[in-house]
Amino acid sequence: MFTLFYGALITPKSLTEYTAAPQALVCVSKVSGVIEWIELDVPSSAFEDTLAKHGLVDLQDHEVVDLKHGEFLMPGFIDTHLHPCQVPNAGSGQEHELLDWLKHYTFPLEARYKDGSFAKRVYTEVVRRIVNAGTTTCCYFGSLHEEANRILAELVHAAGQRAFVGKCNMDREAPAFYVEPSPDASLHSTLSLISYIRGLTPDPSSALVQPVLTPRFAIACTPDLLSKLSALALSDPSLTIQTHVSENHSEIEYTKVLFKDVLPPPPHGETRGALTYAGVYDAYNLLRENTVLAHAVHLEEEEIELIHRRKAGVSHCPTSNFNLRSGCPKIGVLLDKGIKVGLGTDVSGGFSLSMLTAIQHASVASKLVTLHHGALPGHTPAADGFASKQLSIPTLLYLATQGGADVCNIGARVGSLVPGKAFDALVVRLHSDAGNPGIWGADLDKELCITRGDVKESEAEVRKHELEGLLERFLFCGDERNIKRVYVQGRFIGGTEFQA
Ligand code: GUN
Ligand code: FE
Repeated sequence: MFTLFYGALITPKSLTEYTAAPQALVCVSKVSGVIEWIELDVPSSAFEDTLAKHGLVDLQDHEVVDLKHGEFLMPGFIDTHLHPCQVPNAGSGQEHELLDWLKHYTFPLEARYKDGSFAKRVYTEVVRRIVNAGTTTCCYFGSLHEEANRILAELVHAAGQRAFVGKCNMDREAPAFYVEPSPDASLHSTLSLISYIRGLTPDPSSALVQPVLTPRFAIACTPDLLSKLSALALSDPSLTIQTHVSENHSEIEYTKVLFKDVLPPPPHGETRGALTYAGVYDAYNLLRENTVLAHAVHLEEEEIELIHRRKAGVSHCPTSNFNLRSGCPKIGVLLDKGIKVGLGTDVSGGFSLSMLTAIQHASVASKLVTLHHGALPGHTPAADGFASKQLSIPTLLYLATQGGADVCNIGARVGSLVPGKAFDALVVRLHSDAGNPGIWGADLDKELCITRGDVKESEAEVRKHELEGLLERFLFCGDERNIKRVYVQGRFIGGTEFQA
């Protein structure tokens, strides 16, 4: 009744540290899909004694997955922001910034999901590709159509992926062919979708697919609609919320014009200072510990304070921020502040479904920030902080896994491989025969590690450094050809070895 994984394991510990264990033994319950125990250092000579220590003498009832040299286990990726309905547009619309891009490319495509058969055709392929890219949890930002989102939720549920599925709310500032007719209509179909998704699993506490409240962005929502979503959010504190914030200068300016004189007072009896973009969501009770804020590129200082105070999380979407020329957020400043940060692909603002691309661009964006001023004007970054520095490998790994889980407020259940958490994991394979010519020679890493510098290392240190090297190369040169198996809640659901 257990699956035992024996081989190399990588898992984040904190924003600055991860565990690299070349000979780990991981025991996963086949019934619950939860990690029962992990032993981090099990030489082959100690394999049977270690099992016996945990009361496993007869392996007949259990499955053993032996990882080969060049393979390792790691937690699955958590994509905190992706528009599945925009996937057919990925790579197009390079000439525009946000508002024109929405008008010319995005709204016309999203309108097509009115047709359920179109939605089914696209989403069947999209969900399969996202799972095979190693995304074990995905925040899906759907179109405005209830039926298309039901279809999406069903497909995600059938695939066994962990996910949040939301239909976007938008009742203004969009073309007549793609806008909700009234705040009431928007609320009604939102409630209907929420109960449909919650009904997919008999026991909601074990549900992998959850609904998420999805106001598109402040510009596209009338104050009346936001008031209705506010009441819904207050009545349902467990409901996750996702939206966009402070992505692009024209968007921020227009948001302030639209909400200048209409905002209700802030919650908790607080008095409002100057009007800010995040402050608009706060006035409608939409900023809280299970709110996912995509982009947050140009936050003002008061907004950073506010987001921190409300314990909301930020989805950093660097590919999209480059692609739509939105800008380079100072992620190090947010991390120093203690704000939760995860990564998002934001397809099709971003052009890749792979979280590996988001990791690569998060690294490059942080390097760009260090070339200019990493800290906010007037701030001296702490020597041991993140501002003014490029994001390190441990930080990038953390943001793509545990950081994303924390942003979605499910960090106690997933995000790292430790006992008691669900086994949401990848088996990564880096050897040349994995078929990715970008990672040729990973087979040579052991030799390269031994010759790196003059430092004499023990065999154990050499193996650990070899594994760390493999992780770095996977993050920067890897792709889905290197993802051999994808597991969610212990169930094998994707990867190159998966057959439906
Ligand atoms: N702001 C409002 N809608 C969108 C969207 O679809 N993508 C991005 N990147 N930003 C948005
Ligand atoms: Fe987006």
